[in-house]
Amino acid sequence: MKHLIKTLTVFFIWGYHSTGEEQTCRVPNAITLKREVLKEGFHRDLITIIEGNVTNSKSPLSFLLQENIPAGFYIDQYELTNLEKFGGPKTIVPANIDVEKPAHLSQNFSILVFSGPVHTNENHFSVTLKIPIHLRYQRSQSDRAHHMEVLPHPLLALRCDGLSLDAVDSGNYLTAPCNGNSELQQCYWKEAEYQISSPPPVMSVPVGQQSHAQVVFLGTVFVMSAFTLLLIKTMVNSSKIKNKEKSR
Ligand SMILES: *[C@@H]1O[C@H](CO)[C@@H](O)[C@H](O)[C@H]1NC(C)=O
Ligand SMILES: *[C@@H]1O[C@H](CO)[C@@H](O)[C@H](O)[C@H]1NC(C)=O
Repeated sequence: MKHLIKTLTVFFIWGYHSTGEEQTCRVPNAITLKREVLKEGFHRDLITIIEGNVTNSKSPLSFLLQENIPAGFYIDQYELTNLEKFGGPKTIVPANIDVEKPAHLSQNFSILVFSGPVHTNENHFSVTLKIPIHLRYQRSQSDRAHHMEVLPHPLLALRCDGLSLDAVDSGNYLTAPCNGNSELQQCYWKEAEYQISSPPPVMSVPVGQQSHAQVVFLGTVFVMSAFTLLLIKTMVNSSKIKNKEKSR
């Protein structure tokens, strides 16, 4: 996954100059990116809205988000695969995400989210990408009841299917999978600048407190001991009854 995206800076003319008006794939101007988080608690929905204007583009654009997910979160690959069947975005997620581990035993990771072809309506486009994201349990602490997790803004890249972007172009290009179907087919994607219309989402997670942990531990020990004593007593009683039956 680490090598999935490689930044290349391309300073030469990329694509054919003579592709003609019909074939042009324009880079939109003034792209804005907005983030929203829905739901409360450990299981959230992350909404990303990409909007902008593009003129004279005959070919639909596709967008790619590279999300750097901090260690305090996890993504459930099976949940995403399932949501795809109901119109969710295609994604590429590392195979080794442990959904059980607490935050302090986990590491950050990257995922790719693909918009698929986006059509413009009177030169305007708006794409909404929704992915479920989950907060990991935090190590218990004595001083805080809540921990704040910040989700950084993603890297945004775009491409037009089978076409070069603006005929003469420079800038940062990435190689990344062409779509979410397979990692084998790689494409060039142009890194796109965007304006942010909302601050990075901050999510509050309850922290297991140490004082609570001790109470829970002592409580568990007490209940377990009581059950064990009860069990021993029952076993002794039943063996006494059996012995009595035998001695009759
Ligand atoms: C984009 O287009 C919309 C309507 O199509 C317009 O209201 C808006 O001002 C445009 N934005 C820019 C930055 O050109
Ligand atoms: C994890 O975070 C560090 C620091 O922000 C970053 O350099 C690194 O690329 C990230 N790793 C992944 C796999 O995203």
